[in-house]
Amino acid sequence: MSQPFFLAHISDLHIKAEGRLSYKKVDTLGSLQRAVAHLNALDPAPDAVVITGDLTDFGRDDEYAEVRVELDKLTLPWFAIPGNHDARPAFRRAFQDKSWFPHTGDFIQWTVEAFPVRLIGLDSTVPEQSYGELCAERLDWLRTTLAEQPSKPTVVLLHHHPFISGIDHMDRQNLRDSQPLAAVLAEAPHVQRVLCGHVHRFMVSQLGHAVVCSAPGTSHQVAPNFTPDGPAHFVIEPAGLLLHRWQPASGFTTHYLPLGQYEGPWPFYDKDGLID
Ligand SMILES: [Fe+2]
Repeated sequence: MSQPFFLAHISDLHIKAEGRLSYKKVDTLGSLQRAVAHLNALDPAPDAVVITGDLTDFGRDDEYAEVRVELDKLTLPWFAIPGNHDARPAFRRAFQDKSWFPHTGDFIQWTVEAFPVRLIGLDSTVPEQSYGELCAERLDWLRTTLAEQPSKPTVVLLHHHPFISGIDHMDRQNLRDSQPLAAVLAEAPHVQRVLCGHVHRFMVSQLGHAVVCSAPGTSHQVAPNFTPDGPAHFVIEPAGLLLHRWQPASGFTTHYLPLGQYEGPWPFYDKDGLID
């Protein structure tokens, strides 16, 4: 049996410069440092790490400088797409030396061909806006790119959630053209996962045949308030990452791994059997 492919997935780093706290509360840099240490310690080591946007809090060059220092500590290959808190020009300056970075076109979109699962990163950002959009040009690029390898299992990544989370203030800024995206995916049954961020929580939804997973934030989470027109609040819950495990026969299984120190592992069994 072939070795499983492990894809680690983090999102919404929201790094600020000079040790400043996001929203005057959240130590996002310390959280990223813990996430990087956690990723580097995973055994077996994931094949790759994907980052689904909001690498910085305000899209400033000094914030990208800080995030780059930390991401360069990863001992794993990593790939990133922008989110609404990023800014394409600064994102480009920070990462254009990376092998995956596109050198043509307005959008920061790429493919990774090195693994048994193909990765396609989409740029769903709209400058100065919180909501996401793919537009005809990006959807055409996706349709063409998907058609290049119709028999290879594929993951599509974007920042904005293409579903309704039930958290109103986030759903007012979700992906605006999720139905046109669904129409593209309907022609691409080889897309086995759609991965996103933005909602700062682990959620599972569906877009056509494809399972959609949003990653938790590496630091703060969006408060799970399902009251209509509820307030835009965040909470400090355990941060986390997703680990998507894939094998040819079984496809994807997605694991949620909380970040932090917890007790265990301890055995279920001793020499007398199940411990009573
Ligand atoms: Fe975010």
